[in-house]
Amino acid sequence: MRPSFASFPLAATRLAAAGLAALALGACGDDGGGDPDAPAPDAQVDAPTDAGTDGGFVAPTMLSETGLYSDIGAKTIAAGVVEFRPRWELWSDEAVKRRWILLPPDTRIDSSDMDFWSFPVGTKLWKEFVRGGDRIETRLLQKIGPDDENASWFMVAFQWDGGETDAVAVPGGVVDDQGVNDIPDRAKCRQCHGSNRNPGVGLGFSALQLDYDAGAGGMDLARLVAEDRLTVEPTGAAPYFPLPAETGAPVIEPALGYLHANCGGCHNPRSDVAMNTVPVQLRLLTAAEHRSSWAVTPTYETAVNVLATLGSAGSHLVRPADTAQSAVYNRLNRVGALQMPPVGRELVDPAGVPVIAAWIDSLPPP
Ligand code: HEC
Ligand code: HEC
Repeated sequence: MRPSFASFPLAATRLAAAGLAALALGACGDDGGGDPDAPAPDAQVDAPTDAGTDGGFVAPTMLSETGLYSDIGAKTIAAGVVEFRPRWELWSDEAVKRRWILLPPDTRIDSSDMDFWSFPVGTKLWKEFVRGGDRIETRLLQKIGPDDENASWFMVAFQWDGGETDAVAVPGGVVDDQGVNDIPDRAKCRQCHGSNRNPGVGLGFSALQLDYDAGAGGMDLARLVAEDRLTVEPTGAAPYFPLPAETGAPVIEPALGYLHANCGGCHNPRSDVAMNTVPVQLRLLTAAEHRSSWAVTPTYETAVNVLATLGSAGSHLVRPADTAQSAVYNRLNRVGALQMPPVGRELVDPAGVPVIAAWIDSLPPP
């Protein structure tokens, strides 16, 4: 029997939620206040929207200005733009997503920190969201300045018109687009992609997420190495950073990969969330010392059999064979207050939740 989050004692939950709201506000000044759907003030949180930075950057107002397509009507992707897919995906409320990258010619990704790549100026990344067969929005991350501070990255979503002829920038986001899902405002992009959360800003285009065989012509880590696109190359051959092949791998790896993609952007050792708020780390790391067994992964070291510090959604972060007392499970398996991730979704992931449950149920009691 796996009780839903709603069965937690109401008073305790309410109490904890009140405390948490205060904590969350203190921890992340970019959270934009109480109403999660309220558009956040643009200027304080993002790169400039007008000319004046190093490259004379002017914020695009239409998707057709960003260089993704050579012919947006025919949906022809421009030369030099390459599609990719992270091996573990973020759950985005049933949206089917496609992603592309443009690395400027003759540039390399600074991979001296293999877990947090730094992209060359001029890099553009796009992600398209399709629901019910219709293009809804396409998001852009563009590196416009030399470092990885927030001002060096421009982030915005473009909302497609009904005829899918073009998409218009919506810096303030759209609440309940098509009556269903929100398009995040620019401050919300920062909650996951901000350099204070994730140095390097890109999330899916990363070493571990690309260390799989994407097939002929696909974009993966081996191709980046072959095309000499990394300043520091991993040694050996793909997979360069294999995860433990121990017993249980078929149950454990999908769960830890899921947490890596859906949670690791904030719960990682370089994030203000892990440094200032809650020490839980749900991101896998490339170093061999963090991959030689499951027990040495940050996920196991900081979550399994570890007491929850905020004590609001279960006694432990992950309590073996006890989802009801596992905050990681309970926060994933709910919508609204205390949900995780706190932004970017309004539905529970019906495929992801059982993956996490199967892993927790498989863990031996301490
Ligand atoms: C809930 C956290 C979250 C929010 C909010 C969010 N993203 Fe992302 N984004 C991710 C994650 C995780 C990935 C990689 C996994 C995937 O694509 O499935 C990603 C991938 C992307 C990519 C593909 C490149 C890459 O990093 O892999 C782009 C482009 C992107 N996001 C842009 C945006 C923009 C622009 C916004 C705001 C309008 C935004 N995102 C809001 C978490 C988020
Ligand atoms: C956008 C950043 C962000 C993402 C992504 C995110 N979290 Fe969190 N998480 C936070 C913040 C901030 C807090 C502290 C405030 C709170 O508890 O709500 C937190 C707190 C938690 C806690 C409470 C820890 C404790 O000791 O009680 C758990 C458990 C948790 N997150 C799990 C997850 C899981 C599981 C995912 C992925 C499914 C996830 N988080 C994704 C930002 C994030």
